This record gives sequence, C-alpha cells and structure tokens, in this order.
Amino acid sequence: MSGFWRSRMPVNEEAIKEFGSEAVPGHLKRWWFALGGTPAYLFIVQVFTGILLTFYYIPNPEKAYDSVRYITETVPFGWYIRGMHLWGSHLLIVAVILHMMRAFFTGTYRKPRELTWVLGVLLLLLMMGMGFTGYSLVYEQLSYWGATVASNLTESAPGIGPILANFIRGGAEIGENTLTRFYIFHIAAVPTLLVMVLAGHIWMVRTHGVKELHFEDEEESEKGTFPFFPNHFLTELLVGLVLMVLLSTLSVVFPATLADPANPLVTPEHIKPEWYFLFTFRWLKLAGTDMAIATMGLFALLFVGWPWVDKLLRKKNPSSEASVLIGSLVTLGLVGMTMWEIFSG
Ligand code: HEM
Repeated sequence: MSGFWRSRMPVNEEAIKEFGSEAVPGHLKRWWFALGGTPAYLFIVQVFTGILLTFYYIPNPEKAYDSVRYITETVPFGWYIRGMHLWGSHLLIVAVILHMMRAFFTGTYRKPRELTWVLGVLLLLLMMGMGFTGYSLVYEQLSYWGATVASNLTESAPGIGPILANFIRGGAEIGENTLTRFYIFHIAAVPTLLVMVLAGHIWMVRTHGVKELHFEDEEESEKGTFPFFPNHFLTELLVGLVLMVLLSTLSVVFPATLADPANPLVTPEHIKPEWYFLFTFRWLKLAGTDMAIATMGLFALLFVGWPWVDKLLRKKNPSSEASVLIGSLVTLGLVGMTMWEIFSG
C-alpha cells in the first residue's frame, strides 16, 4: 500500500492477510463440497442486475407490466439484464438446495454447527421470498394470481394469519398498495434481512471452520488442509466465470418472456407458481387447506430444528443413520409432488 493510503487508512494488513489465508479442509478441492460459494456469488449477480432493473421498473399496477415490456423490448441490453436476473434467481435456489443437501447428507449440521443450519434454513426461506415477490412484480396473469392464492393461504393460517396477510397486501384485499409492498419487500426489506442472516451464516462457518470430511478414494493432495487464498479463492473465481457463461447462454437461448398482463377479473384456468413452490400447491390439493397449512407449519418447524431431532434419534439408536433414510424419503416426496404438479396440467 502506498504511503498516501497508509497514512489515511491505517488498516492492519497482517490481520487481512491472516483472514484471507485461513486453512480450509482438503475435501473442498472437490467443488461440489464447496457449493456454499455458488449461491454467495449468484447473490452478488442478483444485486447488480436487480439494481439495474430498478432504473426502469415502475411499481404501479397501471404501469408495472408496461415497464417490464419496455425493459425487455426497448432498453439497450434490458432483455439481457432481465434474463440474467431471472435465470440467476432459478440457479440461486438450485445452488442453495444442493448446498443444503450436501450439508444434510454429510451430517455437518451436527454439534457445534446447529446454528449454521438454522441460519441456512432462514436463508433458503428468504431466497424463496425473494423469488415470490420478484415474480409478482412482473404483474402478468400468473404472477398476479399466484400472489392472490398465496395471500389467501396466509390469511387462512391460524393466529397471526390474517394480520400477516393484511401486512403483506397492504390492506384487506390485493390492490394498489400490494405492488408497492412487494417492491419494498423485494428490493429493501428481504435483501437487508438476507445480508444480515448471510453475514451470521458465514461468521458461524468461520468460527467453527468447515467440518473436515474423509473419503475412501481420497487422494494424497486432499489430505490435510490448504489455504483459502489464493487456492480456494481461485477455484471459486473459476466457478464464478463458468456461471457467468451459463447465465449468459440461458438468457440468450431462453430469453425472459412476458405472458398476458394481470387481469383481476379473469381467473386463469391453471394457476402456477414458480417451480420451487409447486410442491405446496400439490400438497394443498391432496391434504385440503387446513390440514396442508398445519402439516406445512410442522414440516417447517422440523426443518429448522432438524439438528436437534437428529440428536434425539441418534441418542435412541446411535448406530442408525435414520437421517439419511428420512432425508432421502423427504427428497423423493418433494420431487414427486413437484413433478405431479408439473405434469397435471
Ligand atoms: C444464500 C444461501 C447460502 C450461502 C451463500 C451459504 C454459504 C455457505 C458457505 C460459503 C459455507 C462454507 C462451506 C461450503 O461452501 O459448503 C457454508 C457452510 C454451511 N452451510 Fe451454507 N449457505 C447458504 C445456505 C444454506 C442453507 C439453506 C443451509 C441449510 C439449511 C446451509 C447450511 C450450511 C451448513 C450446515 C454449513 C457447514 C458445513 C460444513 O462445515 O461442512 N447453508 N454455507
């Protein structure tokens, strides 16, 4: 650092070097075990492309749809930025789910990393919240009616349901205020929470270190640890570049489209949310509203508290790997319900 900056910004260079060169376990050389970096990178892409979209998007029921059309058809490279943001949101959720499955099936959420898991679940829910509010902003038929179904469901939850639904909609019905609310949730409230929870998650990971894993086919170079900077950092950079190419390709080959504008007077025949909410729609049809809400609430509780449920199970039967069986069954159930909903028309 030059003398000019050193005297004006007296940072502790040693501390920064030490922070960057932390040793990470050798198994992270297999990138699919370091999948946490992928959603972190995609989140940054979402922030950049999202900020660019806000220059043209208008959160008003009369103008929202046309402003999205203007971005897609008239703004230079608007279609590209919109495509990156849309595909980024899908890949982000896929990456978070894969990272979560890795953590689950390798059992790294166990003591002392339970809170890393809890903050992780919150991150997943917040990411889904971002996807839901973002989808609604487009103000097409399906996104409008998807929001209507979700707000009705929230309303039917016992206790705080109606209060929460009123708060989300900005009134007793979906109306003028709803889009402004969704916009504030999407660009300010949820991202702020996300950054706070993400900081907590990463802090926990740094505090406990990444849990070391060993494999039967482990190579000599994967034994022990290696420095985060530059080795792991460069791997993450490479993953980032590949993701940029993938996102660009998807945005060009499958560009973001626009369906019919929202019409509150015409209910579409099939209301479909984004793919990561499809299992909830199928479950609603199978179990009925009250039962579905109660069981989904219970499922969410078990999901958050899984490290402790797993502890109880292992106490009862230390040699069993019940978590792997339960995790596989739940994964099959969720994938099955999603597929069912996709192919049921
Ligand atoms: C935006 C979303 C997320 C980001 C950016 C993120 C980031 C990270 C990073 C960078 C690591 C370090 C090791 C690795 O790369 O695997 C990590 C570890 C971990 N994450 Fe996440 N994470 C996210 C969501 C989640 C979710 C949804 C869960 C589970 C519900 C979760 C649970 C864990 C656990 C248990 C660890 C510790 C793993 C170990 O020590 O081996 N994370 N996370």
